[in-house]
Amino acid sequence: GIPRFVKIVEVGPRDGLQNEKNIVSAAVKIELIHRLVSSGLPVVEATSFVSPKWVPQLADAKDVMDAVHNLEGARFPVLTPNLKGFEAAIAAGAKDIAVFASASESFSKSNINCSIEESLFRYRAVTRAAKELSIPVRGYVSCAIGCPVEGAIPPSKVAYVAKELYDMGCFEISLGDTIGVGTPGTVVPMLEAVMAVVPFEKLSVHFHDTYGQSLSNILVSLQAGIGTVDSSIAGLGGCPYAKGASGNVATEDVVYMLNGLGVETNVDLAKLLMAGDFICRHLGRPSGSKTAIALSRV
Ligand code: HMG
Ligand code: MG
Repeated sequence: GIPRFVKIVEVGPRDGLQNEKNIVSAAVKIELIHRLVSSGLPVVEATSFVSPKWVPQLADAKDVMDAVHNLEGARFPVLTPNLKGFEAAIAAGAKDIAVFASASESFSKSNINCSIEESLFRYRAVTRAAKELSIPVRGYVSCAIGCPVEGAIPPSKVAYVAKELYDMGCFEISLGDTIGVGTPGTVVPMLEAVMAVVPFEKLSVHFHDTYGQSLSNILVSLQAGIGTVDSSIAGLGGCPYAKGASGNVATEDVVYMLNGLGVETNVDLAKLLMAGDFICRHLGRPSGSKTAIALSRV
């Protein structure tokens, strides 16, 4: 059976916005985060402490974190690619961080400018530093199904990187179909390979909806026992270093499906829809959530 409760990790303010060309002000990001928290989301990935040359949209990470780190009701992990990012995150009040490795050598190079092994070496230093401060670390494995350059990624490679992240102390490993090419046909074997080396309770799934497969992929992940799902408000997203990657699965659509399955999330769909409406109005674009579009017509 599928889990009775699913923890949703909202990645909109980070994964959702990182690819937006027009700079969104810190004030709008902060207001969005407030709205996401009031809808009941337990985890809102707030920003990234990465190089502003690589991701200009998140150059205001410090201002955003300063404003939200003491909000009650949710946790606010931030991406940290190295010790420099870790130190800046802690200085800005972060109490949760995330490191992001890749199962594809080419993507590792284009996303963080180093090999997979070099990234794991850096992340060991980051997780050690985090452990000293009792900061929980989430680990991402991107390109868990496919890579824009290398094509299909073998499940054994994903399992290897996931296990390395788990062994260095990551409390949760998020398996990312960065370019959204997976179907249940490729997701299930990937999950089986990872679940053979990392306990399923420690796993999260992170789907992008390029081919419209996200909800099916989430459903088969839940059927495999996974109880944590990443999603992005209004389906915002895309990765600056993964050409052609479309938005993440929309949080509204995930909540709608989970409500239909009778799975508890603690999220108030009506409030979530208002948060989505807020950011879409600001970006001047229709929502990427089918649920939001359907319910706005009723
Ligand atoms: P690099 O150029 O190799 O770094 O970048 P470097 O160590 O050689 O330093 C170059 C400059 O960057 C120096 O500044 C450093 O101080 C600075 P300069 O002397 O030239 O003025 N620098 C930093 N500045 C701020 N914060 C830092 C930092 N580190 C160095 N932390 C680096 C290497 C990793 C920094 C860079 O490649 C980078 O920032 N990459 C991040 C890319 C990114 O955020 N991508 C999107 C997130 S991953 C994703 O979306 C996938 C995911 O959603 C899962 C999925 O969908 O599957 C997670
Ligand atoms: Mg992503």
